[in-house]
Amino acid sequence: MGEPRAEITADSQVARVFEWRRGFNTIHLIHLGVQLGMFRALAEAPDSTPAQLAARLGLHAPYVERWCMTAYGMELLDAPAQGCYRLAPFMDVILTAPSHPRYLGSYVQLGAEVATEDFTRCLQAFRTGEVVPFQGRGDAFNHAIAGSTWGLQVVTAKKILPGLAGLSEQLAAGGRLLEVGCGTGNLLVQVAKAFPAARLVGVDIDTESIAAARKRVEDAGMSARVQARRGTVASAIQPQSFDAVLMVEVLHEIAPGIRPTVLSECAHALKPGGWMVIVDETYPSTLEEARAPEFKFPLHTGFEELLWGNVIPTREEQERLLRGAGMNGEIQRSLIGEGFTVLTTRKP
Ligand SMILES: C[S@@+](CC[C@H](N)C(=O)[O-])C[C@H]1O[C@@H](n2cnc3c(N)ncnc32)[C@H](O)[C@@H]1O
Repeated sequence: MGEPRAEITADSQVARVFEWRRGFNTIHLIHLGVQLGMFRALAEAPDSTPAQLAARLGLHAPYVERWCMTAYGMELLDAPAQGCYRLAPFMDVILTAPSHPRYLGSYVQLGAEVATEDFTRCLQAFRTGEVVPFQGRGDAFNHAIAGSTWGLQVVTAKKILPGLAGLSEQLAAGGRLLEVGCGTGNLLVQVAKAFPAARLVGVDIDTESIAAARKRVEDAGMSARVQARRGTVASAIQPQSFDAVLMVEVLHEIAPGIRPTVLSECAHALKPGGWMVIVDETYPSTLEEARAPEFKFPLHTGFEELLWGNVIPTREEQERLLRGAGMNGEIQRSLIGEGFTVLTTRKP
């Protein structure tokens, strides 16, 4: 720790900063490609020239030409012949298929639009300590969040919950699941599709998110067994009435001071033997962990969401919160995807 490694030179350090700077440009290049439909058009008509792409999308041809050349250089595009471009392998799914779990267009959008603005505001916030919280940022923000957590929602509904032997059978037989911090309701609908007999309630403290969640549930024709309620767990939920409480990317969004109360309310909502399933990020507990690959994603979320007032919990805090809420059973912990932790435990 702190010891300079032998292979590090001034040139290699300069090269790293240049590479990160190119990464910044590449995020904006991808964002432009997604928003202007260039990736999608190349998926539909591979081996197009920039002029054809520009004509098809009504864009300025010289700009499209430069975009294609740069995207080729960054290996987002391939060129089967001089002057024709197609998507590089797998980029169709990653950049043009919003319903696929690997889609990253919304995550890139969150960086290019929301994070870029937040980092600019940080120049002031580092002096004042001001916070611009998640709640009240509005519809476009809520939907950008929902889009960027889409893959995790699909994995939760189709893999994590069905993989929990015991709970999976309960939900299949009409069990009740509470989603805390349901946002715009995508996950509620995904879980309802995965378990067609289960009865679900989502709660969230954000008014606009709950309005969107209600519409989402109604549009899916699921209002009879899926409800979205605005409020805290205690205000919206009967005690001991759920077989499972689920939180996806929510624990780190809850203000640290009220986390023990929210977790206790969640535990209270569970029937004895009920399951608490938390999918969230885990902050490095030590300096060594801050450089470990599995902590890169939460480390950066913690920085990106500084202005939102979010504090990513460490492993020790997660466990303290669960124990403090009376969840004294064994805590199962696993790591998925880019750096998400899945925590499961049962109420005694
Ligand atoms: C990152 S979003 C995740 C939304 C959704 N679970 C998803 O995966 O897209 C976090 C959500 O938690 C909600 N939230 C934060 N604190 C909360 C609390 N104390 N009770 C209920 N919801 C809360 C926020 O309003 C927000 O909608």
